[in-house]
Amino acid sequence: MSSTTYKDLEILYSRQQIADRVAEMGAQITRDFNGENLVMIGVLKGAAPFLSDLARAIDLEATFDFVATSSYGKGQRTSGAVKLIKDLDLPIEGKNVLVVEDILDTGLTLSYLRKLFLAQHPKSLRIATLLDKPSRRIEKIEADYIGFSIPNLFVIGYGMDYAERFRNLPDICVMPASSPD
Ligand code: IMP
Ligand code: MG
Repeated sequence: MSSTTYKDLEILYSRQQIADRVAEMGAQITRDFNGENLVMIGVLKGAAPFLSDLARAIDLEATFDFVATSSYGKGQRTSGAVKLIKDLDLPIEGKNVLVVEDILDTGLTLSYLRKLFLAQHPKSLRIATLLDKPSRRIEKIEADYIGFSIPNLFVIGYGMDYAERFRNLPDICVMPASSPD
């Protein structure tokens, strides 16, 4: 890896592989929506880099909105319940919604958000996730657009964090068993 700070991390998907796949996803979404307008809803904070790149690969009129969620309880990521800590800025009734997420893991977050958004009667609702870990699923939910399907690994970079660190790594890396300094 070119970076000296993170030179020991194993790269799972390089910045070039990510860019190539995001371009394909953008082209697919452009074809599927066939000239319709889109509201892209990013799930903060992890999806910010993906939304930023995906939006520029989509040749449609698109607006952005963002939500943020957190898990209840002491558990790290799978305490069971999700709460909304930042709501949408604008109504989505009658709009084509594309929810943009960094990683679909247990499915708890996206199941919660899908229910919340559907209650607002969008014209359509689809989900784009950069990564999917199907083996970890608790809630029955699938994304409409998946960048890469991965095994049960903890990954960092390109928006994804370990204890809020590593979000700015340009590649997607595997989190080592013991945290690097
Ligand atoms: P879910 O509700 O379990 O599907 O959780 C999805 C969220 O957990 C993602 O949006 C990420 O913020 C976080 N997450 C799940 N797996 C990973 C990982 O491997 N690295 C970093 N964050 C992860
Ligand atoms: Mg996330």
